[in-house]
Amino acid sequence: MKRYERAFAELAANASGAPVDEIAALVKIPEPDRGDFSLPCFSLAKRLRKSPADVARDVAAAAQGHPFFASIAAVGPYVNATLDSARVVAEIVPEVRRLGDRFACSEARRGAAVVIDYSSPNIAKPLGFHHLRSTMIGNALARIHRALGYTVVGVNFLGDWGKTFGLLAEAFERWGDAGALEKGGISYLLELYVRASHAAKDEPGFDDAARAMFLRQEEGDPRAIELWTSFREHSLREFERIYRRLGVSFELIEGESTYRDGMEAVIAAIAQKPGTREDQGALVVDMPYAEGEPPMMLKKSDGATLYATRDIAAAIHRFERFHFEKSLYVVGVEQTRHFDQLKRALRAMGHDFADRMVHVSFGRVQGMSTRKGNVVFLEEVLDEARERALAKMREAEADREIDPEAVSEQVGVGGVVFGDLKNLRASDYTFDWEDILNPRGFTGVCVQYAHARCCSILRKGGGAPGEGAADLSALAASEEIALVKGIARIPSAVLDAAEALEPSRLARAVYEAAHAWNRYQQAGNADRSLRVLVDGNRLRLARLALVDATRIALRKGLDLLGVPTPEAM
Ligand code: ARG
Repeated sequence: MKRYERAFAELAANASGAPVDEIAALVKIPEPDRGDFSLPCFSLAKRLRKSPADVARDVAAAAQGHPFFASIAAVGPYVNATLDSARVVAEIVPEVRRLGDRFACSEARRGAAVVIDYSSPNIAKPLGFHHLRSTMIGNALARIHRALGYTVVGVNFLGDWGKTFGLLAEAFERWGDAGALEKGGISYLLELYVRASHAAKDEPGFDDAARAMFLRQEEGDPRAIELWTSFREHSLREFERIYRRLGVSFELIEGESTYRDGMEAVIAAIAQKPGTREDQGALVVDMPYAEGEPPMMLKKSDGATLYATRDIAAAIHRFERFHFEKSLYVVGVEQTRHFDQLKRALRAMGHDFADRMVHVSFGRVQGMSTRKGNVVFLEEVLDEARERALAKMREAEADREIDPEAVSEQVGVGGVVFGDLKNLRASDYTFDWEDILNPRGFTGVCVQYAHARCCSILRKGGGAPGEGAADLSALAASEEIALVKGIARIPSAVLDAAEALEPSRLARAVYEAAHAWNRYQQAGNADRSLRVLVDGNRLRLARLALVDATRIALRKGLDLLGVPTPEAM
């Protein structure tokens, strides 16, 4: 689609004398009955000192005769272009099939590196449902950037250093039980943590002991480190189990602890430029702050270093190693100030790469409550999703050939993941089970189902026809053309999603393609002559080729979002 859109922009640029990139930025996708591309002429009108309608009329008149377009016409202040359907079908369907798994991929960004910091949970606590957003937005961005040729360095920057682990280690020394830790894993650590935080408030001396324990960890005391290592290993083991279910993996797992020995050097560098100063006993970065803004703290009054200090060290280390074009931090909106200060501090230190760092912030999820009203464990949500998907499948008497356990896991995970990614990342959303698993809604299940239907029709129809075996000029029904255009929009959506760091763009395009598929199926239900597996050979082969292209496109789209793609459901 991009090349058609570009051709339209070039035509309009030639016709109006405006730069093509400026026009390209204005081109919109209108309602389907208005064509495929639309150029609003308001800003051109200002430049040309004519009315928008006059500009539209002149541009349309001068842009006639290009073979891509069946029509280019002025409608009020807009220039609307409609593609030549036969040409789009004849170009897109074979192209998608030829590309196969490389569909929507390119080499455009080969050689550019992007670092994506995502998931990054704190150890010794179970992954909560709120971790899903960072994990899945980051995973989708990693997959999308990889598809565009970037070298992606996905980093799981574990919160594995800080006073909390002194607290926990002190609690373990007093009340801990190695056997219970072995058995209970993170849940045991969570219990211990709860007890420790109460003790820190109520038991005289406990908080000081915890602080001392963290300082021992910072100094590398063997016993203190041994305890910390065991907490970290237990945590990672459980995180990995969930990452595996979600199809998530990282290039690097390096937590805050990676930087524990580099703190003095970083603080010394900051002290040189822009400088440090004391603020209520703490050491802070000496740089300009807004009125009332708490300064960026490097060290607390007890000498313990902080999250911000480690993030400065980590950012510098990332640039030294990867010379990134972009460095993304997929972290909730609560940390906006932290990332703003991080970038300002790095800039003040003279690190221009700070301008390449982006806080990919996201909103909150509402409507998730637990029996206890506390954090909702991600694993419990995934389990429930699987159970609900299984129940729905039993109700629907799904395909008997399939393994319901495996497919319900894919549908459950896919529903939760897609249900998250379809939302604009910056907005809050309300979690709702019915929304997430509705086979007819804007859901992962809906797209997965369309994909599985394509696979099953191909199985029934004797497989996809070979290249050249299908005469694609047989595809002329409006539903078929709409489907081809829906598929063709996916690669542009991948580009948009990368540029805007917004996986929801891709989720939307993938859903639109699935929706076009469903319309095609419904048309076939109403009118037998529109079915894929019709008697006439010419039509059947052409349609099977279209189904194959649809399968490839939906599969790729879901895959880039990190949503599983069962071949039968
Ligand atoms: N561990 C932090 C938390 O759970 C998130 C870390 C995000 N990454 C970073 N480089 N600061 O809040």
